[in-house]
Amino acid sequence: MREKAVPEKAKMIVTRKLPDPIETRLMELFDTKLNLNDLPMTQDELKRAVELCDILVPTVTDIIDAEIISVAGSRLKLIANFGVGVNHIDLEAAESRGIQISNTPDVLTEDTADLTMALILMTPRRLGEGERLIRANSWTGWAPTQLLGHRVAGKRLGIIGMGRIGRAVARRARGFGISIHYHNRNRVHEDLETALEATYWEDLDQMLRHMDIISLNTPHTISTANILNSNRISLLQAHAIVINTARGGLVDEEALIESLKAGTIAGAGLDVFDGEPAVNPKLLELENVVLLPHLGSATIEGRIAMGEKVIVNAKSFVDGHTPPDKVLLTLL
Ligand code: 8YV
Repeated sequence: MREKAVPEKAKMIVTRKLPDPIETRLMELFDTKLNLNDLPMTQDELKRAVELCDILVPTVTDIIDAEIISVAGSRLKLIANFGVGVNHIDLEAAESRGIQISNTPDVLTEDTADLTMALILMTPRRLGEGERLIRANSWTGWAPTQLLGHRVAGKRLGIIGMGRIGRAVARRARGFGISIHYHNRNRVHEDLETALEATYWEDLDQMLRHMDIISLNTPHTISTANILNSNRISLLQAHAIVINTARGGLVDEEALIESLKAGTIAGAGLDVFDGEPAVNPKLLELENVVLLPHLGSATIEGRIAMGEKVIVNAKSFVDGHTPPDKVLLTLL
């Protein structure tokens, strides 16, 4: 029999309120401290948490930086993130302390792709503006030239990051008559390219010059941070729109705002922001943006499945196995 990595009832601290069935199971399996009032933890509270627990279950709202890792007690061995993106965790610092990281891939792919598609439709069709018009009691009735947007059928979508979510976005977009283009660290298998009728652009700058819609679907890593920088934004066509459901840090937000204001790009659909939950006030003044509060994976089914992944990862670890969704630094 394998030796258990930590004592029978591992001490687990969960930083945010999770769906009820997940919390119930976590309480059964581990010596679990929940966060029932759901207030995000301060950095000091996180420090106390990592001093005390064997397993920490954080979310995107927790900054687990090198300072937090440096005060972790010797018993902290697993950070079982509730979420697929791990850019809020200093992975090198964790690895150097022998702390494993797991995440929740696959189960939020379809939901995040749905939300991306929703923004691909909402932004050029000006649906946010339409909704605001009605809510402001300002709609005076149908008019032939009112709130005219742009058709999505026949347009070119350039996906930055052809991983699980990028592919799921591509599948959806094809159903709307949109042609698929992508830039990725590696070219995908030719069978997939054929199935999606996708065009690979090795040179991101070249792709940007030719697209109508850009969708960011890459993880936020050292090599993708600020990938849509000011220079690249300036390559976009005046009718182009930018959709971001990945991470705010992938885009130079100030440069994006300047281009939206100047009309050198046509619109943006954003579910994520640099420094969220703070949203740049200049974005709020723009009509040609759709702004959502990080709802990519926000379905009951998705969040329960993410919680189930956390359970499996933590239980596997406690039982002396490698968490199935262990994050491997070399693959990032
Ligand atoms: C999650 C996400 O809701 O999983 C991710 O990386 O961006 C979101 O869909 C959030 O990160 C939970 O931690």
